[in-house]
Amino acid sequence: KRRIAVLASGRGSNLQALLDAIADGRLDADIVGVFSDKPAAPVLQRVPDALRWSRDARSYADKADYERELGDALAACAPDWIVCAGYMRILGDALVERFRGRMLNIHPSLLPKYRGLKTHARALEAGDAEHGASVHFVTPELDAGAVIAQARIPVLPGDDPESLARRVLEREHPLLVAVLQWAVSGRLNERGTTVAVDGHTLFTPL
Ligand code: GAR
Repeated sequence: KRRIAVLASGRGSNLQALLDAIADGRLDADIVGVFSDKPAAPVLQRVPDALRWSRDARSYADKADYERELGDALAACAPDWIVCAGYMRILGDALVERFRGRMLNIHPSLLPKYRGLKTHARALEAGDAEHGASVHFVTPELDAGAVIAQARIPVLPGDDPESLARRVLEREHPLLVAVLQWAVSGRLNERGTTVAVDGHTLFTPL
């Protein structure tokens, strides 16, 4: 079975979507570790104690020390794929390079629009008719790696950042599961994704 490690800082609904997909047989993989920069993050409660790793990233004088420990802990669980699912800290180049090509991130915007934070408010301020979420490969530049798949929703009259975030999140869960299904079945690499459509195999360059 393919091994998935998850990095997360908060609630963990995207991790839960992966756990649910594994539990009911839609995703053939194991979650082998959940890693957090916040020891009190609710996401950690979603897995057994043995799968939890956390350090208070803010307590390190040097961010590189924190990321070396994180990287060693990640490497120790030998993940095939590492998924950033609400990991709210910018990853340093050394960590990204160490796992390059097998590290994915889910981001709440239609990239390349709105890299970084407050994506929902920024989409509303810009008057966008559509908004959504993207899953992409992690590269050293923030939220700039190749996009694998996106979910799109209309912005509705009366939307505020909270309502928009809620509707985007509903679409994030199946999006993330779909991308991990491709990943664990060997149809995804940093140059593109190979998807079977009507019995034909298509290679879609990213
Ligand atoms: C999700 O909306 C995810 O796209 C976003 O944080 C939320 C985590 O929710 N990620 C980022 O903003 C990354 N910059 P969750 O903890 O319930 O999965």
